Amino acid sequence: QPLKNLAKVTALAGALASFSVQAEPVEIKFSHVVAENTPKGQMALKFKALVEERLPGEYQVSVFPNSQLFGDNNELAALLLNDVQLVAPSLSKFERYTKKLQLFDLPFLFKDMAAVDKFQQSEAGQKLLNSMKRKGVVGLGYLHNGMKQFSANEPLLLPKDASGKKFRVMASDVLAAQFAAVDATAVKKPFSEVFTLLQTRAIDGQENTWSNIYSKKFFEVQSHITESNHGVLDYMVVTSNTFWKSLPGDKRKIIKEALDEAIAYGNKIAGDKNDQDRQLIIDSKRSLVVELTPEQRQAWVDAMKPVWAKFEDQIGKDVIDAAVAANQ
Ligand code: LMR
Repeated sequence: QPLKNLAKVTALAGALASFSVQAEPVEIKFSHVVAENTPKGQMALKFKALVEERLPGEYQVSVFPNSQLFGDNNELAALLLNDVQLVAPSLSKFERYTKKLQLFDLPFLFKDMAAVDKFQQSEAGQKLLNSMKRKGVVGLGYLHNGMKQFSANEPLLLPKDASGKKFRVMASDVLAAQFAAVDATAVKKPFSEVFTLLQTRAIDGQENTWSNIYSKKFFEVQSHITESNHGVLDYMVVTSNTFWKSLPGDKRKIIKEALDEAIAYGNKIAGDKNDQDRQLIIDSKRSLVVELTPEQRQAWVDAMKPVWAKFEDQIGKDVIDAAVAANQ
């Protein structure tokens, strides 16, 4: 009998041991607001694949696209509550946490995405990843989308064409000032509401990248898109200090490497994705893509660039100068 009991105890201990080994994987939630078929959507899925391949059974990444879990109005608050562990808002959406990132919204700051990339990788650009540390937000890397275009229900060729119109902007005072500079009204609205606002004509226009205009069908409810390339829409992938610190050092390293690779992948496909989506919009014939002459483009530059001076103190002249230098 004692032997039998011992066998039972041993079996129970074994069962308990295997139970603890088979513990549930730790879930990392990654929430974002765009479609899956976008640079950010693809980057998030790549990150999931890499983490689950390298830490099988230990970590699991759940990706929630299309503002399904959290949207523009609450994703950063949710991050700080650890209700979500990774988000990648556009650089225009951090205003409540730092004024420094307003830099990226200055109209006509970067001549192209190569300049954006050069600045982000520079010392000044990397320093901005830490600009929200005191608020508990940890910047893990920059992710590209691309340059923004204006859209409306009539051709916007000159600044006066925008006058009196209502445009949706992301929650950024710089973007609001950019439209005020051409006598237009800016309305700050979450990304998830833009299609309906355009469709119901509650607003006249918006600004976004080709991949967002295509994947969210804005081109079906806007007759004209001006190829203005007037500003950049990029992201910062962020986590909370709470979550990041809670990870064991060796796991954090593997997760960070997976993230860096996923970001590199997203950055590599972003340019092509936007080019393809631009072409798909042209081919659809639902919306006319309008190119600007150099003179027309210059008129927008002249109207909008004075906005820089208003934000120079908040952003820092040294940071603006470093960004401008990346155009060389
Ligand atoms: C927008 O709100 O227009 C964009 O920031 C959406 C996104 O995340 O690309």
